[in-house]
Amino acid sequence: MPRLLLVEDDPALQFTILTALEEKGYGVDAVSTTGEAIDRLRDNAYPIVISDIYIDERTGLDILDAARRKDPLCSVILMTGRGTMETVMAATRGGAFDYIAKPFDLDVLTGAIERAEAVRGAGENEAQEEELPETEMIGISPGMVDVYKKVSRVAPTDATVVLEGETGTGKELVARMIHRFSRRASQPFVAVDCASIAPSLLESELFGAMRGAFTGADRDRIGVFESANRGTVFLDEIGDIEMNFQANLLRFLQEREIRPLGAGRPREVDVRVIAATNRDLQRLVDESKFREDLWYRLNTVRITMPPLRERRGDIPLLARFYVNKYTGLYNRNVKLMDSGVKALQDYTWPGNVRQLQHVIERLTILADQIDGETVLDALTAMDSREKPMETLADAEEEQIRRVLAATGGNKSKAAQILGIERKTLYRKLERMKF
Ligand SMILES: Nc1ncnc2c1ncn2[C@@H]1O[C@H](COP(=O)(O)OP(=O)(O)OP(=O)(O)O)[C@@H](O)[C@H]1O
Ligand SMILES: [Mg+2]
Repeated sequence: MPRLLLVEDDPALQFTILTALEEKGYGVDAVSTTGEAIDRLRDNAYPIVISDIYIDERTGLDILDAARRKDPLCSVILMTGRGTMETVMAATRGGAFDYIAKPFDLDVLTGAIERAEAVRGAGENEAQEEELPETEMIGISPGMVDVYKKVSRVAPTDATVVLEGETGTGKELVARMIHRFSRRASQPFVAVDCASIAPSLLESELFGAMRGAFTGADRDRIGVFESANRGTVFLDEIGDIEMNFQANLLRFLQEREIRPLGAGRPREVDVRVIAATNRDLQRLVDESKFREDLWYRLNTVRITMPPLRERRGDIPLLARFYVNKYTGLYNRNVKLMDSGVKALQDYTWPGNVRQLQHVIERLTILADQIDGETVLDALTAMDSREKPMETLADAEEEQIRRVLAATGGNKSKAAQILGIERKTLYRKLERMKF
């Protein structure tokens, strides 16, 4: 068993803790001043340090600092009877392993020590460290390599690109890469989320408006296409724009001219357009919800991002990447274990890389180590709270399909269950092309 360092100035408490730990078989060096503690830390390697916070002119936070400086993997457990938000924050920021409020049950302390030992890898193996490639886009699976190839071919051209793929698969990241590897790299990249802008404002947002063009237009407003002149415009959620605005966009793509609302003559602009959607544009075209001519115009090059569950081989790389990122960011000493990697690989990831990123961020903050158990706990908590966002229309269609399947296609029964009239259901089914 490793030797522990105990720093406690209250002789009675020091004796109690020392006795309890020795009974459990630990070798303990006990000291009662910060000076002695720091001397000991200088000359010895302690995997675990247990320290009071308020000791003398220096505190447990100084001990934490000295211990982590000597060995960044040292687990420091701090104890105090005067814990405030500020000291807890400082302890966490300094990388303390745990923080215990006095008075405490000795089991709480031994529990913390056992967890610290477990984290040090007693028993389970830490996942093999692999060298991380120097890149922002992680993934070496065949599906991702296809994406990289297309990006490298299309980036230097001015071709319009459509990016398709589920939410969180990296469409915006790819759009930025295309821009970065294009001759426009030093010019602006402007992203517009078409779904979040009211249809009535989309026109002036993209094309601009002259002062007085509509109520509230109290000055000239430069549109996105003009402000991104010579650069790239990323039109996100293109599947959500209204039919009549689709016509305006088509005209722009053909003529490369903008006419701000209220302006006399059109102005030429030079922008490259990259569009993205997590909906199936071909299907929207088939359902007459998206103009076919616009679809052809956009679809010069189409890149489809593979969902994470179809490239599970990349999950260990991504996990390692995000563990590195967040342990650094939050000054945490959290290890990724083999069992954790396996649990991450077994999950289906409806929210794709974004969801994986969030799970790891949360685990680096809250868990002692990322193993099978902590991953499953986090995923269960998430499954009930963070379903990927869908539109109301999608949710409605999904529910209709489910109920129809359950009633074996009986529409009267389905309408009854759904709480709508039969003819309403027929109308909805018609719209769904069911
Ligand atoms: N291959 C990847 N390597 C590293 N990070 C990635 C990768 N793919 C996605 N990400 C990260 O995941 C997050 C989501 O990516 P992004 O915003 O590009 O997704 P999206 O496809 O545009 O999703 P949405 O449709 O929801 O807008 C970002 O933080 C991005 O950096
Ligand atoms: Mg996006």
